[in-house]
Amino acid sequence: PEIGSLSIIVLGASGDLAKKKTFPALFHLYCQGFLPPDEVHIFGYARTKISDDELRNRIRRYLVDDKSASSSEDVSKFLQLIKYVSGSYDAAEGFQQLDKEIERHEISKSSREGSSRRLFYLALPPSVYPSVCRMIRKYCMSKSDLGGWTRIVVEKPFGKDLDSAEQLSSQIGELFDEPQIYRIDHYLGKELVQNLLVLRFANRFFLPLWNRDNIDNVQIVFREDFGTEGRGGYFDEYGIIRDIIQNHLLQVLCLVAMEKPVSLKPEHIRDEKVKVLQSVLPIKDEEVVLGQYEGYRDDPTVPNHSNTPTFATVILRIHNERWEGVPFILKAGKALNSRKAEIRIQFKDVPGDIFKCQKQGRNEFVIRLQPSEAMYMKLTVKQPGLEMSTVQSELDLSYRQRYQGVTIPEAYERLILDTIRGDQQHFVRRDELKAAWEIFTPLLHRIDNGEMKPIPYQTGSRGPAEADELSAKAGYVQTHGYIWIPPTL
Ligand code: BG6
Repeated sequence: PEIGSLSIIVLGASGDLAKKKTFPALFHLYCQGFLPPDEVHIFGYARTKISDDELRNRIRRYLVDDKSASSSEDVSKFLQLIKYVSGSYDAAEGFQQLDKEIERHEISKSSREGSSRRLFYLALPPSVYPSVCRMIRKYCMSKSDLGGWTRIVVEKPFGKDLDSAEQLSSQIGELFDEPQIYRIDHYLGKELVQNLLVLRFANRFFLPLWNRDNIDNVQIVFREDFGTEGRGGYFDEYGIIRDIIQNHLLQVLCLVAMEKPVSLKPEHIRDEKVKVLQSVLPIKDEEVVLGQYEGYRDDPTVPNHSNTPTFATVILRIHNERWEGVPFILKAGKALNSRKAEIRIQFKDVPGDIFKCQKQGRNEFVIRLQPSEAMYMKLTVKQPGLEMSTVQSELDLSYRQRYQGVTIPEAYERLILDTIRGDQQHFVRRDELKAAWEIFTPLLHRIDNGEMKPIPYQTGSRGPAEADELSAKAGYVQTHGYIWIPPTL
């Protein structure tokens, strides 16, 4: 293990992402002993002129509301590790000051011989990434005579389309090498997303079934039962495809559809993800349904004539030997009737089925990413009793029940730990990002130009009926009269 000092610098320290996600994740890591106080110091950086204590107070309430068993003493000790530096995002002064503070911390730890490790977490809008990266490169790099490294963590939106994303990548790429850049897609930090690789390649069950001969269609679905209140301004510029589908759902698609990597090395895994993305065919207009919930435009930060979709169903088709002809139905929506994210793999009908007339539905393998993490297989069994009739049931691996007492870590917690350890497996590589934008850019441009329009849908509904019709046309058969209920303890 590395020794010496580790400085974690959160830029944009007073913003929403930092308060709600970054600091709580750091706090959890601290409580579990991953950020030993004799090595680690945390720096907050932002424009507002406030004191260390003011920043600590702003963060505190996001830590104490926390459901984990942390004590108020833990909170106070953690907060004492945080120092605040204010400055602008494009001028030397603030960054020189920041460097001085980091160095002071590094020197104070130099009684223990060791490295200067500097992790810069950009909890900032991407418009300032280039200038912030330039400042870091110029003034705040790890002091090489002490050994160590400098890494930067960035989060979407990485651009708005292929060109702007490539431009951003080149600007950052001129300053940092790929192994120093950690592009977060927090879906890659979710337990059941991380499980996909194990599930697919460590189990004999799935190997022969996972292809076009057996699978009829795949759905990757994200639903939220609340709208864009409070962030309408941001959302309206991006829309549901950029906010959820082009990143989170597409990453999940990669892990469901990719071929077996040569090994578990991050580069081998990412090579396969890029390959499957490159095999996706251009999206057809008739395989897209867009929606916008009624009331979306009432938000004062949303323009009255906004054409931005808050719902979309998009069918992707993968042109390779494994998946030719199998639709991947990606669906995401805000202000719907429920909150969940899941992968639904629907199998083909049984050939020459002698039970056909009494069956309830097809075999499905469902991976519930959230809430109530679970995997269940829907299958037909004999209805227990005297009659010879069939019923749909499930083999159910519900995590809460099976792994009682195990806390499933937050996505950000796991991903930040990876950045400290230098493991890029669960981060998006530059060529992967490019391939993802290539798939969606033509469609996004058509929407941005008003050539495609969202269909209005009611808040709290399933979204536009046209989306269900599209899924049905693509081959998805909805099971009626069967609902999986997560087991309660
Ligand atoms: C974010 C999106 O990336 O993911 C939000 O910007 C969305 O719009 C969120 O609400 C969903 O994340 P999770 O982890 O709650 O599914």
